Amino acid sequence: MQDKAKKLMHISTYGCQMNEHDSEIMRALLEESGYQWTDNIHEADLVVINTCSVREHAEKRVLGLLGNLKHQKEKKPGLIIALGGCMAQNPEIQEFIRKKAPYVDVVFGTRNYHKLPALIKEAEETMSNVFEPTCEDEEIPGILPVHYASRVKAYVTIIYGCNNFCTYCIVPYTRGREKSRPPKEIYEEVVRLADQGFLEVMLLGQNVNSYGKDLEEDINFAKLLKMLDRIPGLARIRYTTSHPRDFTDELIDTIADSEKVCEHFHLPLQAGSNNILKKMNRGYTREDYFKLTEKIRQRVPGASITTDIIVGFPGETDEDFLETLDLVRRVRFDAAYTFIYSPRYGTPAAKMKDDISQEAKKERLKELNQVQNQITLEINQAYEGKTFEILVEGRSKTNSDRWSGRTRTNKIVVFDGEEDLEGKLVDVEIECARTWTLFGFLKNEQKKRNL
Ligand code: 5AD
Ligand code: SF4
Repeated sequence: MQDKAKKLMHISTYGCQMNEHDSEIMRALLEESGYQWTDNIHEADLVVINTCSVREHAEKRVLGLLGNLKHQKEKKPGLIIALGGCMAQNPEIQEFIRKKAPYVDVVFGTRNYHKLPALIKEAEETMSNVFEPTCEDEEIPGILPVHYASRVKAYVTIIYGCNNFCTYCIVPYTRGREKSRPPKEIYEEVVRLADQGFLEVMLLGQNVNSYGKDLEEDINFAKLLKMLDRIPGLARIRYTTSHPRDFTDELIDTIADSEKVCEHFHLPLQAGSNNILKKMNRGYTREDYFKLTEKIRQRVPGASITTDIIVGFPGETDEDFLETLDLVRRVRFDAAYTFIYSPRYGTPAAKMKDDISQEAKKERLKELNQVQNQITLEINQAYEGKTFEILVEGRSKTNSDRWSGRTRTNKIVVFDGEEDLEGKLVDVEIECARTWTLFGFLKNEQKKRNL
């Protein structure tokens, strides 16, 4: 029900889970300061755009949206437009907004998004633009209010920023240096989530394995997982993203011995050739990476391993690309998120000669996807006839008569069920596996687990 006295807000979110979570926080803060959510961007009095710079495509979509909002504001001059996230940290974008898009009222950063209500108020009161793109030198906030998008799983940020400086990546420039949240605060937040009935938490950071390195306490990511694994009521712990270079034996052992940390490892490979890995400044070789996945398979039987791969990095020869295909075939990933290299202004790779034609890049992407999709299908087919514990996330998006949830290995499973199963742990037998989805049937009554 809309409260006519309240102003309406809409947040458009691009990019990673970190951004999705920051938007959940901004929504809660804006609700506290008197705004009401609308799904319809056209009727909003306030539009917040939480942007992503990781590839050019994401930036182009935001620039398109800004063009539409310009027209919307011409018809509705009171409309407030706020732009934050990774694009807001880019000096070129800042310049563009000052010169070409002055209808954007507030520009805020990746480390001061929690100050958004105050910045909007300032823009309204002074009737002028407010520029505060901050990604450094800001005290990290404590526990913030969150409007959780799901009733089942919740995001929890554990570390901000990134110190890795992979040569293709814009993130270290947009999200600043690594800063870990105190373990006690994370623990309290997760206890509260478990008390509220969330069965799953997803720990977020650009490189969660670096957790604690900047803290004085005796803590690291493995120790944090051990602490959280003991929280009653919680069923599953996930985390993203981790760096293969920092995936220690201590961490693998901790995950193997834990009850709640899921048997899913997302390990961005990026490239399978040592030549390209070096140019990317990834800090591991193809041999190191393969050894790591073998160790994981030994210690955590049945684990799923997924990855990110970039094709067409500057100087990537056919031989380099074949090495990527070869490693993909050897590791046998459960899934891969694959991307065409996109030069990002300000990164070291953007100064390297982008010497591979767009056609060649597209061809490589297509070939890589074909190889990977076949492997994904084969791995998924091995699930057929077996029963898995599924955490039900809600109705299936493609067929609202059915339920959709995930295995601990992060496979999406769709199945029938009469009663309301959202947020329940159930056993489902897999009947038919496809590349992106497994289909099955409910095995028993709702599981009664003593968590
Ligand atoms: N071009 C293409 N893909 C990129 N990624 C990061 N930067 C770039 C870029 N410049 C990919 C990486 C990363 C994922 C989130 O996006 O694979 O893991
Ligand atoms: Fe995009 Fe990376 Fe920024 Fe996330 S951290 S919003 S993926 S550029």
